[in-house]
Amino acid sequence: MASKQGLLLALLAAVAVACLVPAASGATAVEYCKKGKNYPVKVSGVEIVPDPVAPGQPATFKVNASTDKPIKEGKLVIDVKYWVIFPIPVHSETHDICQETTCPATGDFVIAHSQTLPSYTPPGSYTITMTMKGDNDEELSCISFGFSIGFVASS
Ligand SMILES: *[C@@H]1O[C@H](CO)[C@@H](O)[C@H](O)[C@H]1NC(C)=O
Repeated sequence: MASKQGLLLALLAAVAVACLVPAASGATAVEYCKKGKNYPVKVSGVEIVPDPVAPGQPATFKVNASTDKPIKEGKLVIDVKYWVIFPIPVHSETHDICQETTCPATGDFVIAHSQTLPSYTPPGSYTITMTMKGDNDEELSCISFGFSIGFVASS
């Protein structure tokens, strides 16, 4: 979805702000899209490996979640935004949730999403929004967290 344009814009902007972007460190802070909302699926933590993410190399986003209501089917919608003063949408995709976790998912479970970002992905600060949807597109949970992309370790 307009990702080439978005990335090009982001690339140009990255040149301008690259030196202002702080290095990422420590734990990943995660928050619900709507604070205080009682989502059926609770998220207790997110781990990003590696952190920072390297362009052109696989990255894994592990989400620790729990639910009382078993998930038998559903979707995982991922939206990636690149931050240059304001967020620029650069990527959006939808997956079968049962390919990112073991279904039926119940109790404590982990959603592991692996992705290789293109090697031209500009370094900087990004935000991922993950929306879990169940039967009839019911919103099971929605979280967002930041990650950073480091400079390419060229081969
Ligand atoms: C996720 O859960 C595992 C296993 O319980 C735990 O070792 C890990 O520290 C948790 N990670 C986060 C980011 O909460």
